[in-house]
Amino acid sequence: MKHVFAFLVAAVLASPVWADQALATAKNCMTCHAVDKDVLGPSFRKIAVKYANDKGAADRLAVKIVKGGGGVWGTAVMPANPQVTEAEAKKLALWALSQK
Ligand code: HEC
Repeated sequence: MKHVFAFLVAAVLASPVWADQALATAKNCMTCHAVDKDVLGPSFRKIAVKYANDKGAADRLAVKIVKGGGGVWGTAVMPANPQVTEAEAKKLALWALSQK
């Protein structure tokens, strides 16, 4: 049983989807966002649908994640997230864009 459990934990940690959701949680994104419902910010599913055919989206969103900004989804503005590195922001942007 112990081995099965260890295997499951390893599988969950190795899965990019869960790893990146954990990163989003650790970086405070989930305070304002959820995958499938709007909170203060738009859901990651809506974001993924909006930019589905936009090849430059990951890079632009990564910059916006770090610097913050507004005007796309409504009147609420996303504050800067200086706790996120550029590499982490890129990972989070790609993860958000995969939540279709
Ligand atoms: C204090 C609330 C808040 C936090 C914390 C926050 N966001 Fe946002 N986020 C928003 C709001 C509000 C918007 C909509 C901005 C707009 O309309 O341009 C947004 C928009 C976005 C977008 C879409 C941007 C666009 O131009 O379409 C992405 C991607 C995103 N956030 C990712 C993240 C990630 C990743 C984190 C964690 C590092 C995060 N957000 C943390 C409030 C927040």
